[in-house]
Order: sequence, then C-alpha cells, then structure tokens
Amino acid sequence: MPQSVEKTFFIETFGCQMNVHDSEKVIGTLIGEGYRQVQSVEEAGLILYNTCSIRDKAEQKVFHRLNDFKKFQKQGKRFGVLGCVAQQEGEKIFERAPYVSLVAGSASYRNLPQMLAQLEAGNSRVTGLDDRQTDETFETEFTARSNPHRGYITIIEGCDKFCSYCIVPYTRGKERSRTSDSVLAEARRMADAGYSEIQLLGQNVNSYMDSSGKKSFAGLLAAVGEVPGIRRVRFTTSHPRDFTRDIVEAIDSVPALCDHVHLPVQSGSSRTLKAMMRLYTREEYLERISWIKAARRPISITTDIIVGFPGETNSDFEETITLLDEVGYDGVFAFKYSPRPHTPAINMIDSIVDEEKSKRLAIVLDRQREIQRVSYSKHVGSIVEVMVEGKNEARGQWIGRTSQNKTLNFTAAAESSPAAGSYHPIKVTGSFPNSLVGELVA
Ligand code: 5AD
Ligand code: SF4
Repeated sequence: MPQSVEKTFFIETFGCQMNVHDSEKVIGTLIGEGYRQVQSVEEAGLILYNTCSIRDKAEQKVFHRLNDFKKFQKQGKRFGVLGCVAQQEGEKIFERAPYVSLVAGSASYRNLPQMLAQLEAGNSRVTGLDDRQTDETFETEFTARSNPHRGYITIIEGCDKFCSYCIVPYTRGKERSRTSDSVLAEARRMADAGYSEIQLLGQNVNSYMDSSGKKSFAGLLAAVGEVPGIRRVRFTTSHPRDFTRDIVEAIDSVPALCDHVHLPVQSGSSRTLKAMMRLYTREEYLERISWIKAARRPISITTDIIVGFPGETNSDFEETITLLDEVGYDGVFAFKYSPRPHTPAINMIDSIVDEEKSKRLAIVLDRQREIQRVSYSKHVGSIVEVMVEGKNEARGQWIGRTSQNKTLNFTAAAESSPAAGSYHPIKVTGSFPNSLVGELVA
C-alpha cells in the first residue's frame, strides 16, 4: 500500500460533547503522528468510528454502520472502533466485524500513538480497553478544534457516581481530574489563538478535584473566566449532589461566566431518585435551584429527565411534571428509560411498556413547550448580547447565541455584516419556545 493512503484517516463521531471533544483530541494525536484527515471513507486508509452507548440499541446501530464499511475492506483499508461501544463490547467486536483491527475505549486514548504503531506494523487486533484502573487523563499537545471561536476543555474524565441506569462509569472509567495549572494553560493558549468562549467538560464537573490541591471547581471556573480574552465560560455537566453554592457565587462575581446552569434532575420523585441511586431528594434538588434563582444574575436552568424508569408509578411521574412547573426550566432533554448492560437497573424489571414510556415522554415535552413559550417571551423588548454563530442565508438572518445559551436569530442593516465569533447587542422582538428573534442594535 502506498504510504500516502496508509497515513490518511476519516473519523465519524456520535454521542455527547465529551465524545465530540475526544474526537478533536484523537484527530490532534493522529496529525501529530503524521496522519492527514480526509472527509470521506473512500479517501481514507484508516476509518475511525467514535461511538456512544448511552441509550437504546446503540450497539446494534454500530454493527449496522460497520456493516456499511465492510465493502471497503478489500481495498486494504483499516477500521477502528473507539468510544463507549468499543469499551462496552470489547473484543467481541472483532468476532462480529472481523475486518475491524482496532478497538479502543476513551480511558486508553493516551496510548493511541502506540496503538497506531501496532496497526502500522500489521497487527490486526489492536486493543485499548483500560477499564476503571487508569488514573491518567488524555492530554494532547495539539487538539484539532472544529470551531475557531468557542472550544471545549476537559477538566475531569470518568465518573464515580454509579447511578443505577447509567453505563458511563463502566465505559469511561473512574474519575480523574487534570491539574488546574494544565487547564489554565490550555485556556490561555486558546485565548491567544483567538478563542473567546470556553466550555469546561466533564461527566460530573462538580466533583473536580485539583490534584495539586490549588483550586476547587468554583475556583477553577472563576480563574478560567479571568483569563484575558475569554468572554464566555460554560460548564457541563453538573451533578446536583456535588453542586455547591460557591458555583453560584462565582457566576455572580465573574462577568465571563455564562448565565446558565445545566442541572440534570432525572425525576421529580424522591422515591424514583432513590431507585436511580441519584443521592439526593426532590427537596435537596430544589434547594440548589433556590440558590441559583437567588443569584443577582438571571441564570437560566436546563435539565435532563428520564421517564419510565422501572417502578415509576403515575404518581411518581406526576411529581416530575410538577417539578417542571416549579423550576420553570429553559430547556429539557427528556429520554425514555433504556436498560443498559452492566448497570444495576438491568436487574430491575423494566415494567413500563414502551407505549407508556412514549406517552410520558410526550407529556413532558408538551408541558415543557408551554413553560418555554412563556419563559422565552419574557425576553421580548429587552436588549441581549449574542455571540454570532453564522448566517441563515435563506432567511437573511444571522444566528446568535445568548449568555443563557438561547438561540437568537436576528436581522441587521444591509451594510453591516456581523462576523462569526463577534459579539453584538440585539433587541429582542419576538419569541418561540426554542428561540428568540431580534434586530441588531446599531
Ligand atoms: N436510559 C435513558 N436515559 C439515560 N440517560 C443516561 N442513561 C440513560 C438510560 N439508561 C440520560 C440521562 C443523562 C443523559 C446524558 O442521558 O438523562 O443525564
Ligand atoms: Fe457520551 Fe455517555 Fe454516550 Fe459515552 S455513553 S458517548 S459518555 S453520552
């Protein structure tokens, strides 16, 4: 095989922001090893597939997609499965898809250069399947970020919470934090390269533990917000049990921290929360919400909900609906419970039929739409700052994002052409349940 074919790669990514950012780091590592990224399977010598296994038949979808790749094996291409399905299914992937020659979970990416060397040496069963043993994080010299204005920084990997429905602790390994010095150095490098928005990432950012002992999570958040050139800092995802008041105080005192907290509740019923092993009650969750609402800044709150968890009664579900009303979220990601391998909940009887789960999901989404119709309309008449993300040419509107993480589509005078990544004040003139409309303030 000619060298140029061997050293090209194509990568496809599924799943959460952690996965998207892992791929950016994987790309950086491959480029560092002399590979060139290409935009199609046809052009590539190495095809990587970064997978997600959080819900629903993810494994089946992966094998289905791998089947599409099969026809390329005759051309001498190599295939690698990365991410959560790789960790979950392990070497079984080689059996079901023998043309795959690399299977690696995220906790082993720091060994990618060695794994690539093994592939290049012709090894057809290269694995990186570190389980919960590793203490190391995946830090790269170069990260191929796809957006030039806002980018992710991982502060903590893995998860030690073991909620009874969740596969992440098994696929992403145990919690391990980066030092605050390393995170801040990356933030400064990004600011120097022109980034103005940073999103700090982790499965549970609130349990961040600086191994050098210098900073708490709130302290790190504030320090990133004070890096010259950084105008917006976001963080995700938070666990209510570890969400402390000093995070709200940091948002109140550091202007660059955004007016938004994503605080997944999963259920409004303390009984269901206990079965989910979430480590807080409805009342404890609402106490955290009261801290956020008491802030001087208008902090927007969003959440994740699971409906149809084993044993969830109508009255448990009703408590989730009343919680939506009580909190008044600005956004909800709602999911039907899906049994996952390795998790404690797989041993509970998945008692609620799919039709009932769908019904509950629709009730959550309908109720939430009404809540957002009202909450979004409250912005009409005000002036809000956006970061410009691009332009919808068909509609002649620019697309912006507010500090509260709301989409604001706006018009501007013909002669002005707001650039992507720039910040502007926008007068809000209209609203929908998921977006705002406005005009650039001259
Ligand atoms: N079934 C349904 N939803 C799940 N989530 C995590 N695991 C499951 C599961 N087994 C949801 C949770 C989490 C979000 C990322 O995905 O709401 O916050
Ligand atoms: Fe991300 Fe979880 Fe999906 Fe893995 S399983 S990609 S951690 S959402």
